[in-house]
Amino acid sequence: MSIEQQRRLVTELPGPRSQQLMARKVSAVAGGVGTTMPVFAAAADGGIIVDVDGNQLIDLGSGIAVTTVGAANPRVVAAVTEQVAAFTHTCFMVTPYDGYVAVAEALNRLTPGDHDKRTALFNSGAEAVENAVKIARAYTKKDAVVVFDHAYHGRTNLTLAMTAKNKPYKHTFGPFAPEVYRVGGSYPYRDNERDGAVAAARALDQIEKQIGADNLAALVIEPVQGEGGFIEPAPGFLPALAAWCRDNGVVFVADEVQTGFARTGDMFASDREGVAPDLIVTAKGIAGGLPLSAVTGRAEIMSAPHEGGLGGTYGGNPIACAAALAAIETIEQDGLVERAREIETLVKARLGNIEDDRIGDIRGRGAMLAVELVNSGGTEPDPQLAKDVAKAAHAQGVIVLTCGTYGNVLRFLPPLTISDALLDDAFDVLAAALEATR
Ligand SMILES: Cc1ncc(COP(=O)(O)O)c(C=O)c1O
Repeated sequence: MSIEQQRRLVTELPGPRSQQLMARKVSAVAGGVGTTMPVFAAAADGGIIVDVDGNQLIDLGSGIAVTTVGAANPRVVAAVTEQVAAFTHTCFMVTPYDGYVAVAEALNRLTPGDHDKRTALFNSGAEAVENAVKIARAYTKKDAVVVFDHAYHGRTNLTLAMTAKNKPYKHTFGPFAPEVYRVGGSYPYRDNERDGAVAAARALDQIEKQIGADNLAALVIEPVQGEGGFIEPAPGFLPALAAWCRDNGVVFVADEVQTGFARTGDMFASDREGVAPDLIVTAKGIAGGLPLSAVTGRAEIMSAPHEGGLGGTYGGNPIACAAALAAIETIEQDGLVERAREIETLVKARLGNIEDDRIGDIRGRGAMLAVELVNSGGTEPDPQLAKDVAKAAHAQGVIVLTCGTYGNVLRFLPPLTISDALLDDAFDVLAAALEATR
């Protein structure tokens, strides 16, 4: 790796160059586009981001779960360089190219279930979620879509309707798309229900009473909820929902935009309980940092839209496809699924050793891990504590993100190429930051 894998601060954060750039950002970029840290990146690889002042920060965010294979993975860099020299774009809908087909083949092979599959490629996670809904509606000839409490599916109009949290995502941006219905999910730490079948029965009762399977095109769910707080449903929840969808002619859509591609210690989070979604939506970790997303699913469902009904100018751009093939090769050949499980063991051990009764819950899988912070000895969410700890970690050069409907969750999403030494250093910093807030 070209960047030394070590945290090093040579200025206070933000340093002078970052401050200058931030002043330019404020006068040039729309204020609605926020940043977690006021620090500008110059280079990144492995578990380190180098800023414009020469500080080396530990990356526990992966650009929100994107750079699973690292931010300058040599296979990705080589594949992108070769493709960019050959051609940057023709539009797959005009003159197709093989990279798109190869990505579709790889997704059909890797996604859960051995049924006949087809794939369509897009640019962002939200765009792919929208297309999954379009496809499910075309197939079922029904309209309604069910989503869950704490869900996050994106920021376009339809996906905002599907996303649960008001601020910062939805506030002032309505009206939202119709025929989207929200039901309760499974949040074992807060609903105290550890039996997924019981939680599913509760959700299905709501669906049957309030919407009706006859009106329902799709049930869309994150197998582990991301922005909502890294919420793992109780075991049995997803299989029960999938079985009900199968029995009732409803398309079961897994939104694996954040959980996909080894992130959770399986190639896909649905794999953990043997769930084979009818449609699976992927993005983020798919292409080593280039914008690409996909809908993959049962051939008969994917083939429901008329020819020309799916597409977009850039969907499955050849450079992004080249990057995806290189990222997928890296995940498979470098054993990154196993590496995610190693990271889980290491990080959970570190978190488990912190004695602090404001840690309400330690959860997550693979390299998608979180702590939920609460009032001392209770369960009341403490978003200020999450903010304070994140801020203290940032000042020490550890990039950590918060999330959760209540804003009280610290989440850890390191690149899978991070070293154990960097993880140890980062969790020393985090433990000290937590201790300092007592
Ligand atoms: C589960 C899930 N779905 C959809 C999205 C939207 O993806 P994008 O930001 O690429 O539109 C995200 C992004 O965080 C996500 O986590």
